[in-house]
Amino acid sequence: MNYLDLPRLTCAAGSIQLPGSKSISNRILLLSAVADGVTEIHGLLDSDDTRVMLAALTKLGVDSPVGADDTPLLAKKITGCGGAFPNKSAELFMGNAGTAIRPLTAALAMMNGEYQLSGVPRMHERPIADLVDGLRQIGADIRYLGNDGFPPLSIRPAQIKLDAPIRVRGDVSSQFLTALLMALPLTGQDAIVEMTTELISKPYVEITLNLMARFGVMVKRDGWQRFTISGGQKYRSPGVIHVEGDASSASYFLAAGAIGGGPVRVEGVGKNSIQGDVHFAEALEKMGARIDWGDNWISARAPANGKLKAFDLDLNHIPDAAMTLAVAALFADGPCTLRNIASWRVKETDRIAAMATELRKLGATVEEGADYLRVTPSNNIEGVSPDTGIASSAPTDMVAINTYDDHRMAMCFSLAAFGDVPIRINDPECVAKTFPDYFDAFAQITAPVVAIDGPSASGKGTVAERVAKALGYHYLDSGSLYRLTALSATQAGIDLDDELGVAELAKNLPASFEHSRIYLGAKDVTDAIRTEAIGVGASKVAALPAVRTALLARQRAYRRFPGLVADGRDMGSVVFPAAVAKIFLTASAEARAERRYKQLIQKGMPAKLRALLQDLQERDARDSSRSVAPLKQSEGAVCIDTTQIGIDEAVAAVLASIASQIAASSSKSF
Ligand code: DC
Repeated sequence: MNYLDLPRLTCAAGSIQLPGSKSISNRILLLSAVADGVTEIHGLLDSDDTRVMLAALTKLGVDSPVGADDTPLLAKKITGCGGAFPNKSAELFMGNAGTAIRPLTAALAMMNGEYQLSGVPRMHERPIADLVDGLRQIGADIRYLGNDGFPPLSIRPAQIKLDAPIRVRGDVSSQFLTALLMALPLTGQDAIVEMTTELISKPYVEITLNLMARFGVMVKRDGWQRFTISGGQKYRSPGVIHVEGDASSASYFLAAGAIGGGPVRVEGVGKNSIQGDVHFAEALEKMGARIDWGDNWISARAPANGKLKAFDLDLNHIPDAAMTLAVAALFADGPCTLRNIASWRVKETDRIAAMATELRKLGATVEEGADYLRVTPSNNIEGVSPDTGIASSAPTDMVAINTYDDHRMAMCFSLAAFGDVPIRINDPECVAKTFPDYFDAFAQITAPVVAIDGPSASGKGTVAERVAKALGYHYLDSGSLYRLTALSATQAGIDLDDELGVAELAKNLPASFEHSRIYLGAKDVTDAIRTEAIGVGASKVAALPAVRTALLARQRAYRRFPGLVADGRDMGSVVFPAAVAKIFLTASAEARAERRYKQLIQKGMPAKLRALLQDLQERDARDSSRSVAPLKQSEGAVCIDTTQIGIDEAVAAVLASIASQIAASSSKSF
């Protein structure tokens, strides 16, 4: 896919389970690989950068049950090699993963072997000289194979001697210090590292020290100036270790909550996190967002008056999450200044230049310095500033954002869709570096949903499908999931009252929807689920709470860009309570029975009007009186009665109501 179009977004709410932290995952992978013993890693991030690290370790002879390339990495066992990689020579491809190439370079320099490390072209433009200089001071034999100061590198056998402190710079990347600290215990000797400059991104070094301690190696830290590792310490597996959710990835969702109303809650990081990027939430709080913290979650809501405040902040401690603030600045009430972010220039791309270029496309005035960015939002919807009367540069049409093969550019610019124009994200798949499912997750809290609920045979299905087509949205016929459940229970001989048995079936339903046909496994069951008997069965299984719970996640997964029309009984009340538009479509029981009768006769199926009416009334009674998610007009839903109108008129009425509900939601303050 070359691009992804995001519609204009008006609100964000919901909850997201974060993927594992990249910084923690790659550190744990390396430490497990060199430790004594087996480490069972839970919650490992499965992304390009962790696969790069894992592939390199496998090439170095580390024993880990890596399955086929596409097996998920979430829970993984690594058998450590006790300090020395089995393979003494290897050529390693490191992609564009800084968290892999830096620590591996340092570790391999201690291995007395012959190695080559290379990456994608951008990796060959990212500096590594400070690390190489540090390693050469202790006798490592490292050579540049391309340009001096940059990968690719070759490492040769050498005698490592630690008779004097290693002196390194810390003002380009903190990963050089991290790499040295993690590698030095492999020598078994006493080691001291001294900084010759200010150290940037300190919280990342804290992650390093924290994880080294989990693997049994203590580092004495004197301020941020001097680090001492006493000899004779060996990495030992902690047995089982859990990876926290990624705090940098959390920033996009928290910002969405702050801009789009919220609350948006991220699960996987919280007040006990060891990642510095959780402090992003405090920066957001300074913009006026309302933030709540739990041990393992954070949630964000918009300011009470809906308007985010301008900021002027030193963001050296959260360089990655700071990018999210640069885009959030588009929604602030004045000029915003991001200071002390020089490291952006040597990341996946020159992020200061890239950010300035793309923000300008959205009408912002951007001043770019060597280590800062000042973003003045256009703050103007109609194109003419109410204050000055001067036409602004704010765009009026879709804006295409370039992403520079930088996952964070793609992710943070998704937030721009809360502005006045739809956004096209070019090369959206670059998010695979750290968060392959980012846009699906973002859709789960932001993609517009239209909920159409109502009783059986009210014409919902036909109307909803046509409305979805008119809007270009996806369509979910939730009733079919209950019908499929009833059909497969019947086929499997499971009693429809057996709540747990039916729920288990519902959870694993092999259902698929293709071109208006519905399949159970390979079998086309489009017509089989439409019989009256299965309709009655569906109404029965739909009354079972465990069945409804089993189908909940599956229904919510239909929420995708550019939007979703969902029809059923509880779309607006339970499944998508934050739907941007809610419709209750109904008609008198007599009118509905008559419609169903005509349909059946047309299909050449036997039908009796009176029996159909009675059936419908019984089904309405069961659907409305059940204890969970009973059929009723949910709060905020607009009722459209189709007793007297045909399908075309109903579709038009629904579309008009959706338009006015969306307009009302865009102008509301939070
Ligand atoms: O919309 P339908 O007739 O295909 O629905 C079949 C049955 O499933 C109906 O009796 C009610 C139930 N249902 C439900 O309880 N909740 C939904 N969201 C959709 C359908």
